[in-house]
Amino acid sequence: MAIQLIDLPFAQDALEPIISKETIQYHYGKHHQAYVNNTNALIKDTELDNEILLIDIIKNSDGMLFNNAAQAFNHEFYWMCLTPDPLPPSAKFLELITRDFGSFESFKDEFLSKAATLFGSGWVWLELDIHEKLIITQRANADTPIVHHHTPLLTMDVWEHAYYIDYRNDRKKYLESLWDLIDWKFVASNVIEYYNDLTQPCKDNSELCTYIEQMQDLNEVRT
Ligand SMILES: [Fe+2]
Repeated sequence: MAIQLIDLPFAQDALEPIISKETIQYHYGKHHQAYVNNTNALIKDTELDNEILLIDIIKNSDGMLFNNAAQAFNHEFYWMCLTPDPLPPSAKFLELITRDFGSFESFKDEFLSKAATLFGSGWVWLELDIHEKLIITQRANADTPIVHHHTPLLTMDVWEHAYYIDYRNDRKKYLESLWDLIDWKFVASNVIEYYNDLTQPCKDNSELCTYIEQMQDLNEVRT
């Protein structure tokens, strides 16, 4: 089953002037499309051909296939993090940011600094680690949080193809400009998705966890 290139959540010129239509045409239409095409070519006639989820292909691959499949996933995630109509982060999300970074400004400084100083090509991520702590990581090339059992919340692409048309070699300016396009609603939704995922073990005494534990007990009795 072939992996599909996702539709962009905005028109190709919607992020102008921060990200030009020309950049989107190359970045999405050429680079992202190539990662999808390469993934499909590499899984053809293998046991991974039947995988429906890109995530499952990534977790069961290495080498060229891993690089292409992970890049397809990372780009999907990147596009979802951007919007031409951003809203400020919610109070609830800010609580989490303040808990783990001290303040929103400290979080922003660390995120942009790590993105600016990542050597070579790669991605900077806001992730929820296995201890449910928010962390910022520099990940080289196609590396992706999902193979580290972390939950991705936000990413910025720092491969040169993401900014060279609009910003030439000024990665810092690209990052600072891109900050104004972050879809905080999407970022927060990834936290909510994590906490609502019933496959995650409950770790507190909340009403939701008590309910999940009751349902699990019930299922054990039935089986
Ligand atoms: Fe990219």
